[in-house]
Amino acid sequence: MKKLTALILGLGLAAGATGLAQAQDNSKMVEDAIKARKAQMQLYAFNLGLLGDMAKGAVAYDASAAAAASNNLAMLASLDQSRLWPQGSDNMSVDNTRTLPDLWDNIDDAIAKGRATAEAASAMAAVAGTGLEALQGQMGALGGSCGACHKAYRAPAN
Ligand code: HEC
Repeated sequence: MKKLTALILGLGLAAGATGLAQAQDNSKMVEDAIKARKAQMQLYAFNLGLLGDMAKGAVAYDASAAAAASNNLAMLASLDQSRLWPQGSDNMSVDNTRTLPDLWDNIDDAIAKGRATAEAASAMAAVAGTGLEALQGQMGALGGSCGACHKAYRAPAN
């Protein structure tokens, strides 16, 4: 809330109660979007984690569980995310996010990286239920697609 709080205070002084109310509405919208996108990421991680555990043998391969997790990933990646990334929800503007402002400066690239995850998830969903080796063969591309976006647009953990 660092800069946003200052902005809200500034607006409150300059424009009175109406400006303040609008800024608060906007800030709730930003907070909700951040929560929702983190929830989506957590669902990605949960489903990818199960596939990863099978791939490295930490959990026994189970064809129907692998198919379910990979179908979940493909479905999650196909959701319309356009409202999860509003302007002003970067980590320079508000606190509880690791999304770098660069994402909004490179929106086409960010969308392409999201699409790459969707494609890798579909490729995984096509084979994950057919055998462990096929699952293992898709793991690098899928995990790598997540990592590529994080490297570009997510700040390191503190
Ligand atoms: C288009 C870019 C992009 C793609 C693709 C992507 N992520 Fe993320 N991910 C982010 C960003 C940006 C954040 C930081 C979100 C925030 O803090 O606002 C994030 C955060 C996360 C988090 C932390 C969520 C939290 O609760 O703070 C997890 C876990 C995660 N991603 C997992 C994944 C996995 C697994 C995949 C692939 C299946 C994936 N992500 C694909 C951009 C991406």
